[in-house]
Amino acid sequence: MQNFNFKNATEIVFGKDQIASKLQAAVSQFGENVLLVYGGGSIKRSGLYDQIKELLADLNVVELAGIDPNPRVESVTAGQKLTKEHDIDVILAVGGGSVIDAAKVIASAKYYDGDAWDLVIKPSIRHEIQQLPVVDILTLAATGTEMNAGSVISNLSTKQKIGTYGPNTPAVSFLDPTLTYSVSTWQTAAGSFDIFSHLVEQYFDREPNNDVTASMIEGIMRTVIKWAPVAIEQPMNYDARANLMWASTMALNGLVDLGNVNGWSVHPMEHELSAYYDITHGAGLAILTPRWMEFCLNADTEAKFAAFGRNVWHLAGEDSQVAHDAIQATYNWIKELGLPTTLSGVDINEETNFEAMAEHAVSLKNLTQTAYVPLNSADVVDLYRKS
Ligand code: NZQ
Ligand code: ZN
Repeated sequence: MQNFNFKNATEIVFGKDQIASKLQAAVSQFGENVLLVYGGGSIKRSGLYDQIKELLADLNVVELAGIDPNPRVESVTAGQKLTKEHDIDVILAVGGGSVIDAAKVIASAKYYDGDAWDLVIKPSIRHEIQQLPVVDILTLAATGTEMNAGSVISNLSTKQKIGTYGPNTPAVSFLDPTLTYSVSTWQTAAGSFDIFSHLVEQYFDREPNNDVTASMIEGIMRTVIKWAPVAIEQPMNYDARANLMWASTMALNGLVDLGNVNGWSVHPMEHELSAYYDITHGAGLAILTPRWMEFCLNADTEAKFAAFGRNVWHLAGEDSQVAHDAIQATYNWIKELGLPTTLSGVDINEETNFEAMAEHAVSLKNLTQTAYVPLNSADVVDLYRKS
């Protein structure tokens, strides 16, 4: 197990009926000028918007609406302007990962006078400046952004989708599973697979004998496998939504990465797909993951895949068989969730960009050095082609 320091300062307020009594204090502790950031309208349809406006009636609330899925740098620029013009004290982000990701970068942009894209491509700047506190109300279980310092921002004009890390995680995150009852089947499936993928990226690690981390991950994987189909069948099943929401947070708040050694592989490859074709993140991960697993399976990794098969998929038998069957079980579950399993399933039918995408993914995340099984550009192109 590698050395680590762990600190996560986000206050979690989990469960139903907590917003009415706790939101006002959670926001107003930071000041009176609030930037309310949200997406395309789901919070208006659910009634959450009206509830928030009522609860914050005594504060000065400025709004930034229309954050797109795969949030754009233009939204960050718009937020940067509003934070300065209205001397914003705190950001309230209400929505899924895209809204919260954008809000976290806007929180830094108040203290930066240059182009907001600088904060994405040179995240070190964000560690030299202040960051506004962010309070969020999560409405979609997927990314883990509610308890981490990451944001992923897209620049469609340059075909880039890049992760940036601020100094702070959100100050307070409200996790009310009932707010996810209205999430569509598609987004529930994609979000659930995103959670699963975060676990996969951290489970397949070269550090041996990191049993605390491995067993926590296996338990959260089993949880997502169990409850995602239930949430799809019964959107208002509280236990299903609650388990997925807490799994989302636990999968990517830093806890299950402690003591690990290598970096992630599938996310960098998927971010290129989203950057070029603006597809749903979890769907891209679902397409790539089984192929990436097949690429990784070899004599050195077979025991790890076999452990994945036994402890996550309840398979039994010889290592080599269980390892193969575990990949097949993952693929079958993806199909069961109704997610696409090929690039043509998300309308990507041409290969012209694959080389540029592969080169970018490999160089951005140094995949020849840091991946669980090293990947070069030709490997990534091959993986895209097989998909
Ligand atoms: O915009 P609105 O109207 O709110 O609709 C959204 C959006 O259309 C809708 N939605 C959200 N909550 C809903 C709802 N619809 C009905 N009822 C609700 N309660 O769902 C759609 C997708 O929302 P989005 O926020 O884009 O989804 P998600 O949470 O999956 O976030 C995806 C983004 O997060 C990034 C992804 O790359 C992608 O850009 N990621 C962020 C990470 C992080 N910060 O740590 C890590 C992840 O790996 C990921 O890369
Ligand atoms: Zn993800």
